Amino acid sequence: MPSLIAIRGLRKTYQMGDESVHALAGVDLEFQRGEFVAILGPSGSGKSTLMHILGFMDTPTEGSIVFEGEEVARLGADRRAWYRSNCVGFVFQSFNLLPRLTVLENVALPLLYREDSDPEANAAAARVALERVGMSHRLDHRPSQLSGGERQRVAIARAIVGSPAIVFADEPTGNLDVKNVARILELLASLIEEGITVVLVTHDLAVASHARRVISMREGLVQEDRRQ
Ligand SMILES: Nc1ncnc2c1ncn2[C@@H]1O[C@H](COP(=O)(O)OP(=O)(O)O)[C@@H](O)[C@H]1O
Ligand SMILES: [Mg+2]
Repeated sequence: MPSLIAIRGLRKTYQMGDESVHALAGVDLEFQRGEFVAILGPSGSGKSTLMHILGFMDTPTEGSIVFEGEEVARLGADRRAWYRSNCVGFVFQSFNLLPRLTVLENVALPLLYREDSDPEANAAAARVALERVGMSHRLDHRPSQLSGGERQRVAIARAIVGSPAIVFADEPTGNLDVKNVARILELLASLIEEGITVVLVTHDLAVASHARRVISMREGLVQEDRRQ
């Protein structure tokens, strides 16, 4: 089976005045279907840059990304938007839920960008995703009316509503207490059983220990890639 994602020579360079910042300095990686991967590394090592590029939110300066057999490193904005709404899900540390929308509307939002978008079908899919994360009882709440753990569960529902092949979670437990961290990790782990690939960024070794594979990044490079 070919890899879900194969990355070769990936670089991202930011020009800051006279200085070039090498956020990614030549990354080679492959992710398989249904893999649970943790990416560890100190602040500034390039973890978020890698997630943003693989999540079609940004493009690399150099290198190749083959996603489900197609070269996607240099797609235009429209194609990237298509991949974002059809193939990947994203969970952020700060949840990034829209404050004016209800829980149900927030979760249905990614489906709005699909060409076959239908309000009733979208709401139905959002209900299923919210059921999955145990948040069916809060459909009409606004994000501000939820606890941090509940917001992150809603964010996971939003990430999986479109049945993505892969979910990227960038420090998803960074703002949560121990009990909620455990619940979020359990939820992410359960996605694997459905064949979804989960890539979890963290700087917490205890959190990373839940993944089968741990990648350590340092200064824009993969320093270690180990299965446990
Ligand atoms: N938009 C940007 N402009 C300039 N430098 C950036 C930008 N985004 C990230 N960087 C730099 O790239 C490096 C990697 O950042 P990042 O991927 O956010 O690291 P991490 O998520 O591991 O903390 C850091 O040195 C950061 O300052
Ligand atoms: Mg980061």
